[in-house]
Amino acid sequence: MPFIPKVLIVDDDLRMCDSLTALLSDQDYVLRTCSSGKSAIDYLNKDVFDLILLDMVMPDISGFQIMDYINNERLNTLVIVITGDVSTESAIGCLRRGAYDYIRKPFEPEELLLTVKNSLDHKRLKGENEVINNKLALSENRYGFLVQNSPDIIYTLDSQGNFTFISNAVERLLNFTIEQLVGKHYSFIIHEEDLEKAKWAFAERRTGDRAASGIELRLKVCGDRDPFNPTETTHLTIELKSNGIYDKSDTKEEKKFLGTHGVVRDINDRKQLEAQLHHAQRMEALGTLAGGIAHDFNNLMMGILGNVSLMLFDTEPSHPHYNKMKTIERMIQSCSKLTSQLLGYARKGKYEVKPLILNQIVTESSETFGRARKEIAIHRNLAEDLFAVEVDESQIQQVLMNLYVNAADAMPGGGRLILKTKNVTHREIKDKSYQIEPGNYVLLKVTDNGTGMDEKTMERIFDPFFTTKERGRGTGLGLASVYGIIKGHGGYINVESGKGIGTSFYIYMPASDKTIPKSFEVSGQILKGKGTILLVDDEEVILDVGSQMLKIFGYTVLEAKSGKEAIDVYRKKKDQIDLVILDMIMPDIGGGETYDRIKDIDPKAKVLLSSGYSVDGQATEILERGCNGFIQKPFNMENLSRKLNWILGED
Ligand SMILES: Nc1ncnc2c1ncn2[C@@H]1O[C@H](COP(=O)(O)OP(=O)(O)OP(=O)(O)O)[C@@H](O)[C@H]1O
Ligand SMILES: [Mg+2]
Repeated sequence: MPFIPKVLIVDDDLRMCDSLTALLSDQDYVLRTCSSGKSAIDYLNKDVFDLILLDMVMPDISGFQIMDYINNERLNTLVIVITGDVSTESAIGCLRRGAYDYIRKPFEPEELLLTVKNSLDHKRLKGENEVINNKLALSENRYGFLVQNSPDIIYTLDSQGNFTFISNAVERLLNFTIEQLVGKHYSFIIHEEDLEKAKWAFAERRTGDRAASGIELRLKVCGDRDPFNPTETTHLTIELKSNGIYDKSDTKEEKKFLGTHGVVRDINDRKQLEAQLHHAQRMEALGTLAGGIAHDFNNLMMGILGNVSLMLFDTEPSHPHYNKMKTIERMIQSCSKLTSQLLGYARKGKYEVKPLILNQIVTESSETFGRARKEIAIHRNLAEDLFAVEVDESQIQQVLMNLYVNAADAMPGGGRLILKTKNVTHREIKDKSYQIEPGNYVLLKVTDNGTGMDEKTMERIFDPFFTTKERGRGTGLGLASVYGIIKGHGGYINVESGKGIGTSFYIYMPASDKTIPKSFEVSGQILKGKGTILLVDDEEVILDVGSQMLKIFGYTVLEAKSGKEAIDVYRKKKDQIDLVILDMIMPDIGGGETYDRIKDIDPKAKVLLSSGYSVDGQATEILERGCNGFIQKPFNMENLSRKLNWILGED
């Protein structure tokens, strides 16, 4: 809309009013006239005028009073005074009251037209300026709000690299106040080791299109103890994006560098998640590797152990080879222990999960251990009403043995090993850094009064291959596997230790309300039996040693080299077969499917699962479907005979 100024002419001399109106009538103005001060005020009250041409001397109200009225009411009306009074004081008086200009009577028409035009132009420009300034203030407010509410730190540096502005986020992220940083050089908050990197990223003279972005740096976080001494600090990992600021008005070839501005984003959480992901991926890869090794390795050892077992069976203890064969048997057991440790660390190797009372394994395992290490006095303090836990028994035995051996190693001259079990809830679990699943737990505490450990050792004991023992004495896999196994069972582990005092391991296992199935008797002898057994394995050697063992026990043996063959044989001879020994991992039809098909043929079929390694939870799954038992390769004759005897004697 075009700007049409409204002009009010005020003069008690009506002729003057007429001649002014005549003079201005050619212009594109809206004109109003009045001949007294009072009617002028009425006009000003009713309407908005851009300009008033004001006579100073009027009988009722003077021009000065009208100007005061305009000022008091904050009217946005310009005043041009038209006066016959030529004194300087009166002119100054008018200007002091804010008049735009004054014209002395008599005046030239051009002078009047020009002054009126100038005043209106001035008013229009002033109005436009105000609009622009308002917009600017609004936009500054908006940006100020955005900057101060951003979760990122936003800053500006001068050309020397000193902070000229830094947003509020710095107080939350780095614990410095803004006052502590403004005026300081950026290097004040950079981690010493990142200073070089920061030099070219933080303050480099980059233009807008060559911003330094995605730079990772560590910034100092102000310690609470002494805010002026940032050496006592921790660090925050951040990502930086920075740009140079240049004076655009500078016409010289080289623009003037004013400093830099940038954004600092906290990526600590992201880094932590990345590290966790890497760890998980490492564990996954290690699990695959350990699984592969365990499977092949245990099958190979099964061949060796089976043959040694058979040879031992035929050899008198007085024979010169007897002890050598016994040594081979022992060494194979050590080998398979190593694969178990690796699997434990990789949170694998949990095969046969069943509810049991921890006291039982603690008593049995510690009695066996105590017989071998007479210098260790073992004290048991086991809760009578202990909750059951659902565990893989052999993995828990592995955990216990690792803890006993470590304790004994820490007490070379002998000492006390205290074993305690107790029901607890998640609230009693020490170390609040864990995110603990609420519920009931069983605590197993293993305490020794050995050498103990210092803080530095304690930090690393669960790392794989960390050992303080001499070469050949320790692999450093013991506690790594303990940790993996306990985690794999949904449990928690803590350790307390004091140098020269001793060590306590706290192991918390989630409690179960399942009932305990009866377990088979352990004895060191071969148990005879009768009936027909179908032995299924894709490895020739295992079929060979397995059948020989079974025949020695007194069983009739049928063999199958694959899942498919097993199903065929079973279908034909199901009335004759008393039990199937089934390998889990086979190339065509795996153990799981073979098991289901055999059960389809005869729901009452008895199956003993056997494996060197089972893919995550597969063995447990098959066992839960009603399979009768599990035997871990490599097994010796005693183990196999006992398992068979137990399953076949079940009904
Ligand atoms: N009860 C304990 N008292 C003192 N130090 C211990 C105790 N248990 C573990 N440690 C320390 O933790 C380290 C790691 O233990 P871990 O069982 O993982 O490996 P290792 O015993 O050295 O070797 P491995 O168990 O594989 O034969 C040990 O070398 C030892 O320094
Ligand atoms: Mg150990």
